[in-house]
Amino acid sequence: MSQATREPLLLEKSKPGCKGYLLPKLDVPEKPLEQLVPKEYLRSDPPELPELPENEVVRHFTRISTKNYHIDKNMYPLGSCTMKYNPKINEKAAAMHGNHDVHPLAPEFASQGALQIQYELKSMLAEICGLDDVCLQPAAGSQGELTGIMLIRKYHEDKGNSHKKYIMVPDSAHGTNPASVKISGYQVINIPTDENGLTDMKEFREKLSDEVAGIMLTNPSTVGLFESNIEEIRDLLHGVDALMYMDGANLNALLGIARPGDMGFDVVHFNLHKTFSTPHGGGGPGSGPIGISERLRKYQPGPVVEYDEKNDRYYWDHDRPESVGKVHGFYGSFGMMVRAWVYIRMHGAEGLREISENAILNANYLMHRLKDYYELPYEGPVMHEVVFSGNRQKKENGVKTLDIAKRILDYGYHAPTVYFPLIVPECMMIEPTESESKENIDGFCDAMISIAREASENPEIVKTAPHNTETRRLDDAYAAKNINIRWERDTSEPKEAKEATVA
Ligand SMILES: Cc1ncc(COP(=O)(O)O)c(C=O)c1O
Repeated sequence: MSQATREPLLLEKSKPGCKGYLLPKLDVPEKPLEQLVPKEYLRSDPPELPELPENEVVRHFTRISTKNYHIDKNMYPLGSCTMKYNPKINEKAAAMHGNHDVHPLAPEFASQGALQIQYELKSMLAEICGLDDVCLQPAAGSQGELTGIMLIRKYHEDKGNSHKKYIMVPDSAHGTNPASVKISGYQVINIPTDENGLTDMKEFREKLSDEVAGIMLTNPSTVGLFESNIEEIRDLLHGVDALMYMDGANLNALLGIARPGDMGFDVVHFNLHKTFSTPHGGGGPGSGPIGISERLRKYQPGPVVEYDEKNDRYYWDHDRPESVGKVHGFYGSFGMMVRAWVYIRMHGAEGLREISENAILNANYLMHRLKDYYELPYEGPVMHEVVFSGNRQKKENGVKTLDIAKRILDYGYHAPTVYFPLIVPECMMIEPTESESKENIDGFCDAMISIAREASENPEIVKTAPHNTETRRLDDAYAAKNINIRWERDTSEPKEAKEATVA
């Protein structure tokens, strides 16, 4: 199939004189524009706007919205990214005038509703993670990580722990973990994963010393397993005055079941744009609040939203002399906070627990349906996601995981996360999330089973996939580095995307 041709832009479809509206006849005397608008504000040329009837505009946007893949189209099994369905009520609430148009410099008395949402959200998140406070400012999970490690650093500085140089990070961690450690001035101690997919305790004990400032642990881990050594890890770390940071990107497996604070963590980040349904990816804003224990509370970025019970008013506490400083302009991604607030309030405590139970049930069901067809490096039961390997298909038929990921697109599904975590060769990390029904998961599993059969009976069809998508296999690196999203009047055909050269 040839490369897709570019969809003409609205401006290119424009038909001069064509209107998308019908107004009644003017029933007041018409005045020249100069009498209505001061001359210096009048433009010399009319604006270049598309002129089209309404139906063509609607069809244009509907057509292009179906060309790409998105969660409103079908299941999005991208492991670790938790691409669950986003209830539209969240969007509606975020778009309400009082939420959408509130200015961050509006005085407190005029933005009490917005402050109340932030105060209530931080209180609910603190309860969910079992810690003493929550800072809503970080704008992504990764920024929450960095902020959390900055707090740990400040804690050690204040205690005079200048000998502390290292943060321990498991080899299954998301790349942002070691990056956050380095940026905050610590060195990484890499901890391997054992044959069961858990922290290798022998290596952990050997590498632990008084110079360790803390650990960054993802629980459940990126291979979808609950870290069952957590109590021993906590006791050993606390024995050398090291603090525990939890990467909470996978918190949708723990809601209402287990709390990082109860496990001994001092900081945890939430990915509001995963756990609490806000859209994730696609360049939209994120939100990565952090839960904080009492001993780190005073270091959090300010200002901090508080409630004055006596006067029944919410206010910003700017008096934070020991804060590590701001990490975001103003207060963070407020729109994301509104969505999370609605999501949590809508589900309530019982509902949140049910979310996690269903996420776990779905992942285990999927694991059982696929484990005879793809290698399963770590036996379950798993938490919210499951990691397979395409090793068998590669060894026996030369079909790589990348080929499988491309072939699943032909079946109408987004690909799973591939080649992460790095510790699993030919890795495929699948997260069905709680928002998918059994029928949807079965449809996805049937497609994956069919691909496993194709890989042995007709490997070429998998190696040359995708066949039915808008564009064929692209050189991802070339496409990312040479992206051109600027419209120019030149109507010559855009350069065709280069054919696949991925090795
Ligand atoms: C396990 C894990 N940790 C941290 C992050 C970073 O979160 P963010 O993308 O919001 O910066 C991710 C993101 O996918 C993740 O999967």
